[in-house]
Amino acid sequence: MAVSVDNYRTDGSRVVVLIQAVKLRFSYRDREVLNGIDFIAEKGKVTVLMGRNGAGKTTLLKHFNGLLKPSSGKVLIDGEEVKYDRKSLLKVRKKVFYVFQNPDDQILSPTVWQDVAFGPRNLGLSGNDLEKVVKDALKAVGLEGYEKRLCSTLSGGEKRKLAIASALAMNSDYYIMDEPSANVDGDGFEMIVETVEKLRSDGKGVVVSTHDLDLAKAVGDRFYFMENGRIVWSGEKFNYRIARKLGIRTFAFGKVILSDQVNHAVKKVDYVAVQNGDASIERSFRIISGNAVFERAVLKAIEGYCVLFVCDDVERMAEKMEKYPIDVEILEE
Ligand SMILES: Nc1ncnc2c1ncn2[C@@H]1O[C@H](COP(=O)(O)OP(=O)(O)OP(=O)(O)O)[C@@H](O)[C@H]1O
Ligand SMILES: [Mg+2]
Repeated sequence: MAVSVDNYRTDGSRVVVLIQAVKLRFSYRDREVLNGIDFIAEKGKVTVLMGRNGAGKTTLLKHFNGLLKPSSGKVLIDGEEVKYDRKSLLKVRKKVFYVFQNPDDQILSPTVWQDVAFGPRNLGLSGNDLEKVVKDALKAVGLEGYEKRLCSTLSGGEKRKLAIASALAMNSDYYIMDEPSANVDGDGFEMIVETVEKLRSDGKGVVVSTHDLDLAKAVGDRFYFMENGRIVWSGEKFNYRIARKLGIRTFAFGKVILSDQVNHAVKKVDYVAVQNGDASIERSFRIISGNAVFERAVLKAIEGYCVLFVCDDVERMAEKMEKYPIDVEILEE
């Protein structure tokens, strides 16, 4: 049987369970909003998409269940190219559930119970089976007792939870969630993290677009950063340096300045960290030296201090520091 190369990782191992965008382009009228996107979201993993307002995140996500059709390039689901006739789209939408950025776009029924029941009923569920699915979904998001409420009377955060409950009731293979933690309180946030983790452990593929660093860090297995319709970075460890550059909201912690020499022009540092015990440092500096210099320097920066870190290979050190929530600056001579 012929198998598409798309179904293999670069190391040759087989992957058939994923959503994939290949050289995807899309324009609203004559304005190109996606300029050639390559993207993979595996089943059993949480893929996080971040980037500025207007970067194109929602537009990209809407391609994953056929809500938008590429101007060129393609979307594959489990290795099969998405087609845009009615029958194919129904199949795709059963497999890939899209949770809208704005819950009002998704909630279509008068009452909470009806809204959650709508999808599974369309799939043929009825009676006790349907009751159970709806009950479990509402319980999972903390909306038990809301069954008879009119959807229009729910608060913003409650609508978000309802939208997620309706998604869960569908038992799809993939969940696309566009800013799921917008508008929710701390408990709602925990619920969303737990929901996403449960979906992952159930073997579902989840794609989350978010501006919420806490959510991204809590659930992300792989991160994609977007800018102006392009993927500009992707990786398995969150990269604070690039995130800041791309306007992704991060915490304002302290800073490490990397230099290959003790530079006395640096007046504002709180600590000087030296890896090789440099004796020539003025005693007015607070010195970090001896054991675990790297860890202690990073910790001081996370606490909000400015640390001058003296080491031989500043570029390599900058790379090592990328995964910490600190600013890293290389001091040019
Ligand atoms: N229906 C539309 N018609 C024309 N332009 C659109 C339409 N929808 C979105 N756009 C434009 O496409 C660009 C990308 O929008 P998109 O909603 O994908 O961004 P986003 O990354 O999801 O942003 P946000 O973080 O604000 O949700 C924006 O410049 C937006 O104004
Ligand atoms: Mg958006």
